[in-house]
Amino acid sequence: MPGTAIIGAQWGDEGKGKITHLLSGQADVVVRFSGGPNAGHTVVHEGQTFKLHQIPSGVLYPHVYAYMGNGMVIDPDELLREMQALRDANVDLSRLVLSGNAHLIFPYHRLLDRAVESARGDRAIGTTGRGIGPAYTDKAARRGIRARDLLLDDAVLAERLENALLFANAILSGVLQQPPVALDDMLDKARRWRDALADFIGDAFAPVHAALQAGQSVLFEGAQGTLLDLDHGTYPYVTSSHPTTGGVLTGAGVGVRDIQRVIGVVKAFQTRVGGGPMPTELHGEEAVRLRGTGANPWDEFGTTTGRPRRVGWLDGVALRYSAQLNGLTELAITKLDILSGLERIPVAVAYELDGERLDAYPAQIEGLERCRPIYETVPGWQEDITNARTWDDLPQAARDYLRFIEDLAGAPVTIVSVGPGSEQTIWRE
Ligand code: GTP
Repeated sequence: MPGTAIIGAQWGDEGKGKITHLLSGQADVVVRFSGGPNAGHTVVHEGQTFKLHQIPSGVLYPHVYAYMGNGMVIDPDELLREMQALRDANVDLSRLVLSGNAHLIFPYHRLLDRAVESARGDRAIGTTGRGIGPAYTDKAARRGIRARDLLLDDAVLAERLENALLFANAILSGVLQQPPVALDDMLDKARRWRDALADFIGDAFAPVHAALQAGQSVLFEGAQGTLLDLDHGTYPYVTSSHPTTGGVLTGAGVGVRDIQRVIGVVKAFQTRVGGGPMPTELHGEEAVRLRGTGANPWDEFGTTTGRPRRVGWLDGVALRYSAQLNGLTELAITKLDILSGLERIPVAVAYELDGERLDAYPAQIEGLERCRPIYETVPGWQEDITNARTWDDLPQAARDYLRFIEDLAGAPVTIVSVGPGSEQTIWRE
């Protein structure tokens, strides 16, 4: 397995956790390239369940080097909690590296996130309130604090924090009438983070390139999903980074030639968390059929927030867009088992906008908000497929559904997930 990127092809929560974990076992190096503690992977490894938010799941394998790349924003308190949970489960963390260039989420970022979101009222974006947007804002505004800054002399670090707080406090106390954040408190926190993390902060560039040059397999682990991309998603209902192939290049510091496979993880239907347009959204009983009631761990409720997800039929227009945008070379389809028992399965193949048929994803959110899906409906299957282990084990109708998806995306389905277990996976030859 050469340089391989795993990309969420929809709005996140595609089930990348399972696919990433499986592919990590075949990798030498895993690099997470974007996002922060807003991602939530639920991974079952050797019978134990792990909830990972910032640490790449590759860390669970004793042979894998796991990097948190420069494109991430890291909440050190959350990171330390994750690290402790892994240590408690006897996971060796000696091959875990935090890029010195990754930016840090400070408590004032969380305060800003929540205060600004609540000030937006019914125009709220639906952020996770974890300070990720404000941390990326500081990065772009060149006042962010990077992991490597923790290793600086106190006086220099204090100067940088003071600069960052100038802005944060102007908004918090000046605009939002909240108490300002004290420099000393932040400096104390930074010192504690330094003590706990100094050994993990390092270079995530040279060793990754050395691995690529040596022909080792390097997995670039995505978080969130394509339609949340800051540039290419449904702006402003997006995340503040690039969960797309473009984000691999900047967020891990590699070139296009370093990525040979781009695997788009696609849930067999559509889900979305937070605000923003979703043309195939369902309500009522049909929605509960896809979402579940919360009784199963895989039902559609957020791993990080517990919020019920919006659900709908597969959006083939968005998938085609995602395949083009990311240069997907393969598809991994997850949660196919959830569709078992449906008579017929609608898939959006185009949109209707103001009486016109639209085959391409509209560039403007205002357009997308008014789009109505044009469905093609394919026959469903009644069989339980959770024990299928090969392509031929799948009922004809399920295989036809997958072929339909391949045609829409213009990329082959190479992995099919039919349940949460790692063995419930079909690797298509
Ligand atoms: P993302 O990285 O955002 O995609 O998160 P994730 O991988 O943790 O996805 P999510 O939070 O949606 O959790 C997926 C849940 O579905 C977990 O409980 C998985 O064990 C489970 N799961 C993964 N693949 C399948 C599948 O094919 N079928 C079923 N029934 N459950 C699955």
